[in-house]
Amino acid sequence: MSKNLQPLWSKNVSIKDGELHCAGISATSLAAEFKTPTFFLDEDDFRSRALTWNSELSKAFGPQAGRVYYAAKAFICVEVARWIADMGIGIDVCTGGELAVALKGGIKPENIELHGNNKSIEEIEQAVSAGVGIIVIDSLFEIERVAAIAQSAGKVQKVLLRLTAGVEAHTHESIATAHEDVKFGFSIASGAAWQAVIQTKKHSTLELHGFHSHIGSQIFETEPFGLAADRLIELLAKFNAEFGEQLPELDLGGGYGIAYLEDEAEIQASDVLKTLATVVKQSCAKHSLDVPKISIEPGRTIIGPTMFTLYTVGTTKVVTLDNGSTRHYVSVDGGMSDNLRTALYGAEYTAIIANRQSSSKTTATRIVGKHCETGDIIIKDIDMPADIAPGDLLATPATGAYGRSMATNYNHITRPPVVAIKDAKARVILRRESIEDLLRLDI
Ligand code: LLP
Repeated sequence: MSKNLQPLWSKNVSIKDGELHCAGISATSLAAEFKTPTFFLDEDDFRSRALTWNSELSKAFGPQAGRVYYAAKAFICVEVARWIADMGIGIDVCTGGELAVALKGGIKPENIELHGNNKSIEEIEQAVSAGVGIIVIDSLFEIERVAAIAQSAGKVQKVLLRLTAGVEAHTHESIATAHEDVKFGFSIASGAAWQAVIQTKKHSTLELHGFHSHIGSQIFETEPFGLAADRLIELLAKFNAEFGEQLPELDLGGGYGIAYLEDEAEIQASDVLKTLATVVKQSCAKHSLDVPKISIEPGRTIIGPTMFTLYTVGTTKVVTLDNGSTRHYVSVDGGMSDNLRTALYGAEYTAIIANRQSSSKTTATRIVGKHCETGDIIIKDIDMPADIAPGDLLATPATGAYGRSMATNYNHITRPPVVAIKDAKARVILRRESIEDLLRLDI
């Protein structure tokens, strides 16, 4: 018997005879070959999600579709960068480290966009000398720094200005970015954005290509994206009135929400981009502007659902609570070092027993890791079969975004590998860290 688990799990994940499989390979054989904890990445699913966002952008905006810049911060390694290069889409990097991976993966520099609210001089120099397509400028200091570095390199650098649109997106406060009280961008409402425009225009080594906005992450409503676009277009109109020319591009950022639990539904590219196209067209018509090229930077929605984490249960314990009820503590061989999102944002995940079917009754369960603190929780409250025991495999879906990319070495844990699965073949694309890797840093 085979059961489909989409959309929470990736395209090629299924349950056969009670056991989780990905592209035909069973969880038991994956664990035997690659050990646990490990992130498994469904390659076809990654490619098809990236291409869907690309084609839906084209459908919604036609010839005015700009670029899909995959947000590397969600997850990047050299092999994934090669896939991106292959598909011809762009990438958003926000550090010299991400830039190095993108270049090593063969992504054309003109398809790279550099972000960051505090780029170092070295990072700007690397980006300018590599010839990145766009640098997104985030402060007045940076206007001067990029201009000077482009000048010494004898180049004219295309730039966007990151603007704060004053939009309150409904998401965790740590990942909302377009209300006024944030470190990112130039506020439109306060006049800082216009000041940045004037200052940028003074430099012959900067080519102001347009404006950028990113309102936050894990957002499900489409309205705030439209509202931000509308505010950027108002500023385009002001630019047009003042300088008699139209800026060619708006980059509307990422932030599209995905499902982490069974009763959630991810935001659909076709829906959000269609709505966005309507707003952009209306707003441009209102200001008698041509529709500029529209680019986006989805991260989570491309990589998030493509990975699951496989853990092995090491110990279990039944704890009696103050009210007399009990909780089954299930300890796995990873924890907050490979999934920081629960501790950091109170994020919620689900999990299943991956190696077998259980007919045991369910009980209140907490899935915890092996770190030395109580906050080391992967799933705080979940009903799971009471017979979970040492040796069982547990799988957590939708861990592709901000999972491995935010993994740490807390307690000198070695970070897990990423294994790509395609056509019933699994291969390591980012290897497991070793104790030698950790010791190599000590002097
Ligand atoms: N563009 C910019 C400028 C960004 O800052 C981000 C994410 C993205 C695009 C991609 O957003 P996405 O489509 O992935 O939502 N660590 C947090 C998320 C931080 C997001 C930071 N910026 C989490 O685990 O939820």
